[in-house]
Amino acid sequence: MKKLIVASNNKKKIEEIKSVLNEVDLEVRSLKEEGIDIDVVEDGLTFGANSRKKAVEIKEYLLKNGKNDFIVLADDSGLEVDYLNGEPGVFSARYSGTHGDDDANNKKLLEKLKNVKWEDRKAKFVCVITLINDLGKEIAVRGEVEGIITEKESGKAGFGYDPLFFIEEYNKTFSEMTGEEKNKISHRGKALEKIKSEIDKLI
Ligand code: IMP
Repeated sequence: MKKLIVASNNKKKIEEIKSVLNEVDLEVRSLKEEGIDIDVVEDGLTFGANSRKKAVEIKEYLLKNGKNDFIVLADDSGLEVDYLNGEPGVFSARYSGTHGDDDANNKKLLEKLKNVKWEDRKAKFVCVITLINDLGKEIAVRGEVEGIITEKESGKAGFGYDPLFFIEEYNKTFSEMTGEEKNKISHRGKALEKIKSEIDKLI
């Protein structure tokens, strides 16, 4: 079976991807499971640019190491807050200065939105996924979800800004939802659904 290699070291992200793509006829593997230790520098100005950069660099690495018959899936995602003119955007993972420090990132976001009214706390999560196969054929899809940044963290599930991202329709933050609920409406869930109908072109 062809391998789908997820270009990420974020365990929670990989779990979400595996759970949505569980019916796809591919063996979904993380970089770690493939013994690949490579850090792609995410210096693009858009989610699309970073997602493509990750996909292409990992494809090149795999080819150089004698691998074939694979598809690389690279997700680049983040949060855009209206009141902050789209911040943190492509800097979401390192908003506080330390890459992947979710607690510090959330603290900084709350500080930036201190005393900002509920109706001005609108935000969206964006996810761009690039798929590329060993022959260099590519597909890119995008998913978005709108929500509101709460005034304090609520819930334990998920990762990143999930405890602060409130969906009015559900009256819950992403961290208060089950994985299944989040995947149904999230930016990543929507992008992955699009992939399901396109992935045949790369197999
Ligand atoms: P990336 O791994 O470079 O794409 O960075 C994504 C960053 O955006 C994460 O570290 C989180 O801070 C944020 N992010 C992206 N997707 C989500 C999500 O589904 N929930 C919470 N935070 C997210």
